[in-house]
Amino acid sequence: MGEVILREDLDRVAILTINRPDKLNALSEQVRVEMMAELEEIESNDAIGAVVITGAGEKSFIAGADIGEFEGRQPFDQREAMRSPRVFDVMANYPKPVIAMINGFCLGGGCELALSCDLRIASDNARFGQPEIKLGLIPGGGGTQRLPRQVGIGHAMRLILSGDMIGAAEAREIGLIEMVTTPEELREKTLEIAGKIAAMSPLTLKIAKEAVRASQRLSIEDGLVYERDLFCLAFSTEDKKEGVQAFLEKRKAEWKGK
Ligand code: COA
Repeated sequence: MGEVILREDLDRVAILTINRPDKLNALSEQVRVEMMAELEEIESNDAIGAVVITGAGEKSFIAGADIGEFEGRQPFDQREAMRSPRVFDVMANYPKPVIAMINGFCLGGGCELALSCDLRIASDNARFGQPEIKLGLIPGGGGTQRLPRQVGIGHAMRLILSGDMIGAAEAREIGLIEMVTTPEELREKTLEIAGKIAAMSPLTLKIAKEAVRASQRLSIEDGLVYERDLFCLAFSTEDKKEGVQAFLEKRKAEWKGK
């Protein structure tokens, strides 16, 4: 357990909670380092099938990068701080499903982190935005690239150029998030979905994610060829044999992850 990242392991689901509620869970260097360490451990931990990321308290998911760390920082230092591997990219390429459980402010790097996840579930009091423009900055955690891919160039331009915040209902409407719940139901609903996903074959989840992610960088023709190849690859797994057999025998499949 880290100082600023809390980890709770439930049945095949790990919850990582950024624990700096007094700073609205701003993404400091320490948060990034501890988060990366947990993600690295979870990646090779067969007991965990999916990850949920959230922020401590009810006010904020993540209110962006830690602005305090920007003061007096020179371009070269900033470049060092942004060296690879970056948590946004690690999460976007993570082999296990990652779900953002958004409880309040989801701003700047917080919004970018949510965009790097596979699914976004928010409470109806959540507020979203890319306010970097108000600091004389632009999004630097993938926001200028992932936000337009998620919501379209027009909505991305509006959020990035104005720095305006939008509520959960509007975020759902433009496709920034996939689901909205009450604050009271957020954990239960998120864990319900996370649990369902985590119970699937880890191997099949991995290639399903890989295929869907590829749609963001491949042409439709190349993407369909890639999908066909991964689909056929799935035929070589024990889990495919088990899944089909279990269906025919009208029983629950028991995945081996092989
Ligand atoms: N980095 C560092 N500290 C932050 C922070 C951030 N991104 N966001 C909030 N905090 C800190 C505040 O400085 C304050 O700390 P203090 O009590 O030691 O002064 C504490 O968190 C509470 O924030 P506060 O501003 O008092 O809460 P609020 O409810 O009045 O306003 C926000 C909430 C989210 C509107 C406001 O905090 C804000 O605009 N934050 C910055 C958002 C941003 O620009 N993110 C992108 C960064 S690139």
